[in-house]
Amino acid sequence: MPLPRRIVLVGPMGAGKSTIGRQLARELGYHFLDSDRMIEERCGADIPWIFDVEGEEGFRQRESAMVRELSEVGASVLATGGGAVMKEGNHEWLKRDAVVVYLKASLEQQIERTRKDRNRPLLQNQDPEAVLRRLFELRDPVYSHLADIVMLTDRKSPRLVVRQIINRL
Ligand code: S3P
Repeated sequence: MPLPRRIVLVGPMGAGKSTIGRQLARELGYHFLDSDRMIEERCGADIPWIFDVEGEEGFRQRESAMVRELSEVGASVLATGGGAVMKEGNHEWLKRDAVVVYLKASLEQQIERTRKDRNRPLLQNQDPEAVLRRLFELRDPVYSHLADIVMLTDRKSPRLVVRQIINRL
């Protein structure tokens, strides 16, 4: 089977989208695109600043524009932010010429991997566990609906997850 033109990684904060995406892109000889980092570069500010100044809705508008723009980059692996799937208008751009991979992590794993995190505004000043649980309930059905491949990441090294994704492409 020929490789898909794009691979798009979706899933919650702490699922490993950036780490796995970077390694997967390297294995395939594809470009690695990280939508959050590219929004920060474009804006010249970090995500907490964008949330502070423009609100979550301001960030979501930037995210939609970025997801749309990046849908044109072929031979790429795109790591999306955890909330990018929640705007239905983004689905067309996420799925465009892509195999969508849902990196699925248990709540325990999400909590562990986002501990001490200062760069995720949704987890600041609130009980991170409660937030992650609520977001997971809302978003898991959407990730599952969009995904061509669901890949569990708990207790697996990024290297193993990358292998398993490649085997299923
Ligand atoms: C968000 C996840 C973050 C980032 C922003 C909002 C979310 O990305 O886009 O803080 O709504 O889940 P990661 O999933 O890469 O942490």
